[in-house]
Amino acid sequence: MAATGSEQQGGKAYYVTTPIYYVNDAPHLGHAYTTVAGDVLTRWHRQRGERVWFLTGTDEHGQKIMRSADAHGVSPQEWCDQLVEGAWKPLWEHLEIGNNDFIRTTQKRHTDRVQEFVQDLYDKGEIYKGGYEGPYCVGCEEYKLPGELLDGEGEFAGQKLCAIHKKPVEILSEENYFFRLSAYGERLLAHYEADPDFIQPESARNEVLNFVRQGLQDLSISRSTFDWGIPIPWDAKHVIYVWVDALLNYATAVGYNENQEKFESTFPADVHLVGKDILRFHAVIWPAMLMAQGLPLPGRVAANGWLMVGGEKMSKSNLTGIKPQDLTSHFGVDAYRWYFLRAIAFGQDGSFSWEDFTARYTSELANDYGNLASRVAAMVGKYFDGALPAATADSEAEKAVHEGLATAVREADRKIGDQLDFQGGILAVFDFVKQVNGYITEQEPWKVAKDTSDEGLARLATILYTAAESLRAVAVLLHPVMPETSRKLWESLGAEESLGALDDQLVQEAGGWGRLPAGTKVTKGAVLFPRLEEKPTA
Ligand code: MSP
Repeated sequence: MAATGSEQQGGKAYYVTTPIYYVNDAPHLGHAYTTVAGDVLTRWHRQRGERVWFLTGTDEHGQKIMRSADAHGVSPQEWCDQLVEGAWKPLWEHLEIGNNDFIRTTQKRHTDRVQEFVQDLYDKGEIYKGGYEGPYCVGCEEYKLPGELLDGEGEFAGQKLCAIHKKPVEILSEENYFFRLSAYGERLLAHYEADPDFIQPESARNEVLNFVRQGLQDLSISRSTFDWGIPIPWDAKHVIYVWVDALLNYATAVGYNENQEKFESTFPADVHLVGKDILRFHAVIWPAMLMAQGLPLPGRVAANGWLMVGGEKMSKSNLTGIKPQDLTSHFGVDAYRWYFLRAIAFGQDGSFSWEDFTARYTSELANDYGNLASRVAAMVGKYFDGALPAATADSEAEKAVHEGLATAVREADRKIGDQLDFQGGILAVFDFVKQVNGYITEQEPWKVAKDTSDEGLARLATILYTAAESLRAVAVLLHPVMPETSRKLWESLGAEESLGALDDQLVQEAGGWGRLPAGTKVTKGAVLFPRLEEKPTA
């Protein structure tokens, strides 16, 4: 865990969560997409000097997990332990995810608090016993409304299918406990109205508004046909519905009913990042649960779109065999973190293609960014023995670069830090990289170097200082997205000695011109984005 800056100040932490993922199998590209987005967002806020809390974890109860454990002939707990330790945590480490905590819903710190929460609601009269029969999708762990189902074809002819999983639903008939969700419709609508940014993007907000306006049904919050879950405290024949159990992780992981100080300085989340498939749980059920308990609501529920394969949501069954590690071993971890946020507008669906990744890697990372860094270091080495010269008089061309940087910082900060527009923010920085490349092409330092007069030397110094100082800022701005690359660049610019650790550089100050002092030792470091090998054959 690479968390920094989190223990520094008082006040409420900037708290971001990912969904806690089902551990019925190893993580795939879709899971990594949301987690990387959360990591970039929280690194950005750390780099603003804020105290940050970034939570991820795993959702380990319910029928879906139980069935996959059964299929592998091990107990559900063993199955979860194997996957969490053997696949999930290692992937997050590999991708340099700097989460502050990792919650598992089978941990006692979670299960005890969930029981208390549910008992409390029961005592308040928010939960009652009733019966329900309806179509249930185990993939979603959710009862469906008849209107949401598709008619099966082929092997599923005559059956009703879940629209997300394209698998037949099961008709469940149970006597269980219900939460009075229907009582919260008006209050939820009033909240969406009062806080238009609560659900993002707009399309997600509209979907939720339409859904709630149709009227909410009470929610079945217990199951009695299987036992892999947290027992209902007053009736142990039932386990708590996996979604109620799971949503509560956002509270139990930060000290709910256990560590008041931590809870108050962290909860509620500023941003819940979720895939659009689980939007309703987060934008309807979760806030209603909090209202029922008199707890504060999260700042924002931000839904990301789906990574698609062949026109379908990417899932374990249609992944065509590409694992995150297959991509990182070819393109590198940093390029992987960058690519999905760069290529897809956050909130929209997007497809992955090996060709698109290769083309963008080559033109944007290797040619635009990587070459700029190596050319500048090489020229400072060649013309000034690696000692960064001081800029003398700035001409209009330099002033344009200073302004370009100020714009890039402002745009990136607003877009990534506030709007979760990762693509827009990354583009703002890369536009600046392009501008600096254009500046060098126009200024032709290699020609200026032939002029050995004092004037020529001063001009050359100004050009190379301007380029190196621009790279100093780019290293800071791209650090949340591509941490390793920025570390390499920081080192090659000799910035650590004069400016201190990269982690401590504030985004707000990145645009201040002239931070890198003259005399700094610039070295030609490792190539930032090596030429790609041939595409591996499957
Ligand atoms: N366990 C629940 C979440 C409980 S949160 C209190 C769950 N888990 S899941 O393993 O199915 O993961 C869902 C999340 O993974 C999605 O909401 C999304 O964030 C991410 N993705 C899974 N597949 C995805 C794509 N194909 N594309 C983008 N994100 C995807 O639901």
